[in-house]
Amino acid sequence: MRFSEETLSDIMQRFRRELARGLGQDTNPTATLKMLPTFVHSIPDGSEKGDFIALDLGGSAFRILRVRVSHEKKQTVQMESEIYDTPEDIIHGNGTRLFDHVAECLGNFMEKHNIKDKRLPVGLTFSFPCQQTKLDEGYLLTWTKRFKASGVEGMDVVQLLNKAIKKRGDYDADIMAVVNDTVGTMMTCGFDDQRCEVGIIVGTGTNACYMEELRHIDLVEGDEGRMCVNTEWGAFGDDGRLEDIRTEFDREIDRGSLNPGKQLFEKMVSGMYMGELVRLILVKMAKEGLLFEGRITPELLTKGKLDTKHVSAIENKEGLTKAKEILIRLGVEPSADDCIAVQHVCAIVSFRSASLIAATLGAILLRLKENKGVARLRTTVGIDGSLYKMHPQYARRLHKTVRRLVPDSDVRFLLSESGSAKGAAMVTAVAYRLADQSRQ
Ligand code: GLC
Repeated sequence: MRFSEETLSDIMQRFRRELARGLGQDTNPTATLKMLPTFVHSIPDGSEKGDFIALDLGGSAFRILRVRVSHEKKQTVQMESEIYDTPEDIIHGNGTRLFDHVAECLGNFMEKHNIKDKRLPVGLTFSFPCQQTKLDEGYLLTWTKRFKASGVEGMDVVQLLNKAIKKRGDYDADIMAVVNDTVGTMMTCGFDDQRCEVGIIVGTGTNACYMEELRHIDLVEGDEGRMCVNTEWGAFGDDGRLEDIRTEFDREIDRGSLNPGKQLFEKMVSGMYMGELVRLILVKMAKEGLLFEGRITPELLTKGKLDTKHVSAIENKEGLTKAKEILIRLGVEPSADDCIAVQHVCAIVSFRSASLIAATLGAILLRLKENKGVARLRTTVGIDGSLYKMHPQYARRLHKTVRRLVPDSDVRFLLSESGSAKGAAMVTAVAYRLADQSRQ
């Protein structure tokens, strides 16, 4: 699980080739990276304004926000938000029920904020791969992460939500845009830093988008300017290209998942799987008598008993005490050496994740550098996600490895403080202005 510099560079080059394959007309159908056009052409330019609703579905929480962008002396943004439950029977049930639930939460939100009669424009952050031919349409290609509602794959999620809202009839809403969370993150960060041209998420799942030259995107007409492309990098390796670095633990995670054979890169790095990876390694070590004097408990054998937030806690300052507490909750009686070993396992698994993300991000940076034809790349990466934010060492390790892999660059990492919703509202603002112009 620990990579040499050569291996990481090699993965970076493999990913770079995959980026090109995803963009090419002939190679796209068989490429693992879908390189989805987003119809977002630029980051915010400071002229956006208005009153919007942003829905954020598919991350670690389902949120609804009201975002008010005003221009007094300078552009300011005000946000109010609520978090809603998405119970397992809804995200694994029938698609109609899922969208009815979303429409119901939106109704409650509008009621609570006294805006039910307002018909505000809505921007939807939908954190799954969607095929788009315009901003306000998104055909779900496949569910990823924890979601698996029936009858949604292959459908336009904007239409499904519109239908659910119409059926209720107690309020109106115009869904103006659907954006991936990576795009929302890039736009949120672009609001503060004009140089931002990459958005990445390292949370429950992982993914990245970046600004590509339109002339390189075969799937979209036109050669002038740029468009943001959603790479869906979680699927890297789904064609076997990462087999040499996948371990028995990665294979076991995949076999037990909702989508076997899919999102293999995501399963090696993201928060939804990291705790489980550590657990599987601990079980094997205990079975071989290398931990806990060979004692294995039912809790230790239970899927999901070790969470990524536990991994973060174990690598924190008081980590060894935490390790002891967490292991005791798993029913084992750890010795001091056991705690040290477990902390070491956590560090190896989370370090691997940060290194792999550094390699794929490095490839995107190399591509941007080549596109611009500059000797040194100066750019900003907007970034969000629970793993990146909560893990005590993750960000530092990622930044350091990226700088080592792409030495001819000055990369600024900008944490998206307010999530992707502000960015979704920015996209909505632009769409709304354009729609307004065409109405006049
Ligand atoms: C999964 C989704 C992707 C999303 C990412 C982070 O990889 O497929 O669309 O951006 O998770 O939430």
